[in-house]
Amino acid sequence: MQPDQFNKQLKLLRNGLCLFVIALMSLGGFVVLYTFYPESSLFTVKEANQKQFETSDSLSVPLVNSQEGEYDLETGFIEDVGMSAVVNNCTNCHSARLVTQNRMSREAWKATIKWMQETQNLWDLGEKEPIILDYLAKNYAPESKGRRQNLTIDKWYVLEQ
Ligand code: HEC
Repeated sequence: MQPDQFNKQLKLLRNGLCLFVIALMSLGGFVVLYTFYPESSLFTVKEANQKQFETSDSLSVPLVNSQEGEYDLETGFIEDVGMSAVVNNCTNCHSARLVTQNRMSREAWKATIKWMQETQNLWDLGEKEPIILDYLAKNYAPESKGRRQNLTIDKWYVLEQ
């Protein structure tokens, strides 16, 4: 072998070795970085942003404007006796939010249900009706605190000129 050719091959070998060492070092660097900073943005896939928009309508019910208590995460209803009857009968046609955003007396809830039965094809709630009414009247009653009540006009008076 010519010494010239030998030198050339040596050079190639050296360059190859150099690249190999550099690759090994950067790999090692990543491993070290990962062991010490596994939370680094280098390793975490950006999923957090997408998650926010996946929530359904019922999930985004704001958990405000109610007495303290636990909320059903799926529907936003206050967890209490009778909630399952309400979920089963009141979320088929419209979102739970239409229910939870309302505050009514027992009579007004009853009237709303009657109105839906007469005009919106709501079925007869049977023995569940008192349970549902109890639940609604207790947990979604008109509140004196927070939301301002509608004006109630007891007596009309005539303006005299
Ligand atoms: C058969 C379908 C159906 C079922 C089941 C149903 N609703 Fe409704 N409800 C409707 C329709 C339709 C409307 C009118 C929606 C609109 O105005 O966009 C409505 C409106 C409402 C409203 C708003 C009324 C208003 O004056 O704005 C409330 C509160 C309500 N429903 C509560 C309930 C409750 C509580 C239940 C369970 C007992 C229930 N709904 C079950 C069909 C239904």
